[in-house]
Amino acid sequence: KELMGSEQRVAAETHVLTLPLPFQGHINPMLQFSKRLASKGLKVTLLSFTDKEWTKAAEHGSVNVQIIFDDTLFAEITDQEDTVYINNLYATVKRRLPEVVAKHGESGYPISCLVYDSLMPWAIDIATELGLLGATLFTQSLAVSNLYYEVHQGKLKVPVEKTAVAVEGMPPLEIHDLPTFLFDLENYPLSLKLSASQFSNIGEADWVFFNTFNSLEDEVLNLMARQCAIKPVGPTIPSMYTDKRVKDDKDYGLSLFKPDVESCMKWLDSREPCSVVYVSFGSLSILGERQMEEIACGLKMSCHYFLWVVRETEKEKFPSRFLDETSEKGLVVTWCPQLEVLAHKSVGCFMTHCGWNSTLEALSMGVPMVAMPQWADQTTNAKFVADVWRVGVRVKVDEEGIVTGTEIELRIREVMEEETAIEIRKNSEKWEKQAKEAVDEDGSSDKNIQEFVAKLICNST
Ligand code: UDX
Repeated sequence: KELMGSEQRVAAETHVLTLPLPFQGHINPMLQFSKRLASKGLKVTLLSFTDKEWTKAAEHGSVNVQIIFDDTLFAEITDQEDTVYINNLYATVKRRLPEVVAKHGESGYPISCLVYDSLMPWAIDIATELGLLGATLFTQSLAVSNLYYEVHQGKLKVPVEKTAVAVEGMPPLEIHDLPTFLFDLENYPLSLKLSASQFSNIGEADWVFFNTFNSLEDEVLNLMARQCAIKPVGPTIPSMYTDKRVKDDKDYGLSLFKPDVESCMKWLDSREPCSVVYVSFGSLSILGERQMEEIACGLKMSCHYFLWVVRETEKEKFPSRFLDETSEKGLVVTWCPQLEVLAHKSVGCFMTHCGWNSTLEALSMGVPMVAMPQWADQTTNAKFVADVWRVGVRVKVDEEGIVTGTEIELRIREVMEEETAIEIRKNSEKWEKQAKEAVDEDGSSDKNIQEFVAKLICNST
């Protein structure tokens, strides 16, 4: 709601700090949530660790970005399961946050609240010591978080060894629908511990936000809401895509990778509506060489145009003997402006690893998906994409753990050409509408944001 006179002044002096986990899939939703808070009149500062040249020029709207980390923090880290990473992160926040809070206090804009990524549950203790309110933001789905919650409470025994599990409020889940951390403890012991720890001190947070929206996950929301006051605030995509009056908010802003904006958009502009398969596996997934070849073959056999993101670090595996990087049919880039791509009329489907951001972005833009999950929460997201929201299909993995070119070709045809495509497109349009309604003024997520802002303003007066 529009604020009036003195209220507006108090809001502008109500200062919130936001603290994302320094990964692309966590920075994006936190930055966007920050922008939504700023659009309600609050002063917001996001604590960042990237000072990449192209992010400086990026438009962050009304959000200030303050760099508190330095490059050395991650220098020694070669493996995500390395505890050095979390230890460094904790030590940096513990050391820098008091300085940041004191400095803003002196400048006349004292911090009243810290919004932190739920994977840093210790942040609430630091915030409390500094006299701040604390809000945690979960950047994965409610369904996935519910499974981690079950592990935290000891209700779901890990490693899961059964072929299927029944969890209240969820569809029946086979082992390949569960987050991989729940059964592959050998490879991901730290990730499971971290994921379950999100709930370790949840009662201490003053607010618990989720990047989802009510109607998308209503059953599991009702269930979890009995135990803690969950507030969905998503989808956290830039308002330009949900509000036609906003014209200049095309991307999140703080990208760790340099997007190839011009060539992507020019190439898409010259394609027919709904003719392109957009392919991306997010910022972290590592594909095997054989799998890359099968993707290339599948794309080629499908005979559709494709835009494929192959990150710089994956480039050496690019199967040039199967595909040219810029053949007649395809364009391969190392990073793209994904939101602009998904919003482009030429894109007919998204072959995705089903990271939660990519899933929500495609769903909010009404783009049908070919789900090809790799690890972590992606498997569960893929289950919901194919069987619950029915906005796409999921590829089958063969006995060798490979998704073959033929399988990829068939699934692309299923969402692009066949009878099934009509139903999937209809469902995609339905969810697109509901996603936009949730963040529209007075929509379910917008109301939760308004309430939060009102409480903070009230506290400041
Ligand atoms: C990770 C996990 O893998 C994911 O499962 C979890 O839910 C969040 O953290 P990531 O793998 O990077 O994230 O995937 P995703 O959640 O989809 O986030 C990627 C982000 O990068 C998206 O916001 C997407 O729009 C953006 N992106 C991706 C680009 O801007 N350009 C690209 O070329 C590719």
